[in-house]
Amino acid sequence: VTNRNGVKGLSEMGLKTLPKQYIQPVEERITVSNILPQESIPIIDMSNWDEPKVSESICDAAEKWGFFQIINHGVPIEVLENVKDATHRFFNLPAEEKSKFSKENSPSNSVRFGTSFSPEAEKALEWKDYLSMFYVSEDEASALWPSACKDQVLEYMRGSEPVIQRLLEALMKRINVKEIDETKKSLLMGSKRINLNYYPICPNPELTVGIGRHSDVSTLTILLQDDIGGLYVRGNNDSWVHVPPISGSLVINVGDALQIMSNGRYKSIEHRVVANGSKNRISVPIFVNPRPDDMIGPFPEVLARGEKALYKQVLYSNYVRHFYKKAHDGKKTIEFAK
Ligand code: SIN
Ligand code: FE2
Repeated sequence: VTNRNGVKGLSEMGLKTLPKQYIQPVEERITVSNILPQESIPIIDMSNWDEPKVSESICDAAEKWGFFQIINHGVPIEVLENVKDATHRFFNLPAEEKSKFSKENSPSNSVRFGTSFSPEAEKALEWKDYLSMFYVSEDEASALWPSACKDQVLEYMRGSEPVIQRLLEALMKRINVKEIDETKKSLLMGSKRINLNYYPICPNPELTVGIGRHSDVSTLTILLQDDIGGLYVRGNNDSWVHVPPISGSLVINVGDALQIMSNGRYKSIEHRVVANGSKNRISVPIFVNPRPDDMIGPFPEVLARGEKALYKQVLYSNYVRHFYKKAHDGKKTIEFAK
């Protein structure tokens, strides 16, 4: 089977059965028996974001769940719709157009069209295609990113900037970081990566995954999903909790970098995406990250009260490299900082 058009290509060949490279071990599949329908992650209305109770709910959610949804966040609905359209437009390009951005052909390391997660390291592949773009500057993005999506993606990145700042300010206050100075700004949001994810219709969705169990390596992730659903978050007692699509909302989650910087106060939570037998799903996460050359570790403000450091200082680019060189494996990446 050719892979030049990713799993979307496989999906469109009309396969009746899932190719065996995609068959996941039983324990990695999601079954109805470990889904808890009564639980759900918090939904936070940010229309009055400067009120203390909004900050409280953000911090509570980041401590307890590591995951929440925000509504009335100020990013215009058209901007979100335009990004979703642009994502479909990119993945609907002919294979030869998309493969201009594959590992072999991409004009830059910072733009990559690919499939699965880390195919060389995975025992079983994931049923997902992606376009991943490391953000350096508007100028670089305009020069290198695919024209099918770049304007809409950049508009979304600009539009989400105030929300990211507000969230981080609220989260920092609770852990005694009163001011986000230049150093902190670099550590919290010094670089960004945006992914366009495409999960095509799958012939045997119950045998595979869209994305396997992992936590993000970001500070925060801002995720836009469409109306299909399929994202699950680790809840209590080994359960998996669905993140229901809410029109106009954004899903926010804590990543490993923030768990480390907050010395475990905020938690990055495992999540996964199921494959779907009847619908193509897209999602668009913005990963808000430290700069690659930053050393990350628990903030001095957090340790000031005599708390013991749970993590050591690590170079962020080494942390990220460690994440990408293995298959998705739940929360194991963070061991690297212990
Ligand atoms: C991810 O975890 O990177 C993507 C989640 C999603 O597609 O909903
Ligand atoms: Fe993720």
